[in-house]
Amino acid sequence: MKERIGNLLDDVNAFNASNIEQLEAFRIKYLSKKGVITALFSDFKNVPTEQRKEIGQLINGLKITVQEKIVSLKKGFENTNESKDKPDLTLPSDSPLGARHPLSIVRNNIIDIFARIGFTVSEGPEIEDDFHNFSALNFPLDHPARDMQDTFFIEKDPDIALRTHTSSVQVRVMENTDPPIRTISPGRVFRNEAISARAHCIFHQVEGLYIDTDVSFVDLKQTLYYFAKELFGEETKTRFRPSYFPFTEPSAEMDISCNICGGKGCNICKYTGWVEILGCGMVDPNVLDSCKINSKEYTGFAFGMGIERITMLKYQISDLRLFFENDVRFLEQFKSSI
Ligand code: DAH
Repeated sequence: MKERIGNLLDDVNAFNASNIEQLEAFRIKYLSKKGVITALFSDFKNVPTEQRKEIGQLINGLKITVQEKIVSLKKGFENTNESKDKPDLTLPSDSPLGARHPLSIVRNNIIDIFARIGFTVSEGPEIEDDFHNFSALNFPLDHPARDMQDTFFIEKDPDIALRTHTSSVQVRVMENTDPPIRTISPGRVFRNEAISARAHCIFHQVEGLYIDTDVSFVDLKQTLYYFAKELFGEETKTRFRPSYFPFTEPSAEMDISCNICGGKGCNICKYTGWVEILGCGMVDPNVLDSCKINSKEYTGFAFGMGIERITMLKYQISDLRLFFENDVRFLEQFKSSI
């Protein structure tokens, strides 16, 4: 019996498992109900009394050695699993460098240009109430933009909607800040429109707002003139056409000389030499009053532009849907440091 246990101990000490299955087979061989150790204990009853103490200790010693062996081999497997999961940071990378989305590049460009003349960035919620999206901005109750066909309402509550423009943020800023105010608000907006090469139900805008004493249309023109030259190049010309928005009076739309043909005429500018890039105007006194800013003391201008449209013009992209498809062949063409 002694010799048998001795041989088994040698086997156990010499055992090594190269995978978890082999280790499990080892455990079953020694420790299961029908295993080697159980067999030894059942033969133990035939051991003469005077040898019982010694043999008993040997069998227990064998059992402990088996258990310790299993624990230590298991640890080894866990360690190798762990190191497999962890990336080896010393390896050279073979994955391609990421690129910023073109809409983010242009948004950052716009923020950068306005930051240089003192504009801060402010943000507001994408889910808005009627007051901030429409009423405070002087929209008449029967204005078509309030219609279900244009606006996504939340759970049939006519008071809550996805904002249709970032002009809602100018209301929030005016409510919470005393003039002077100089801020731009980039963000995502939503309109119930069919998706096509020129329109999407989700798109991005940048709203601008300047409120102070004695702000005039000259300030508006000079600010936007500076902006257009910074974004599209020094040779860019601007022109203002009268327009209408409920929240500005007077209102205008600004065109820039077509940056593709330099104003000579091409299919992007429909052979006019000009492309429209934004809406703007002097903040309507009704809007200032709704936001608790004294319209006798303060005046201001506001403007709003679509980031998709500006990006399409800047990079000559002809289909707006490309921005949302996330095709890396499209995206990786836009490497930028900002
Ligand atoms: N909110 C307008 C739109 O979504 C854009 C706009 C036009 C904003 C004129 C303005 C503005 O602040 O003065 O079409």
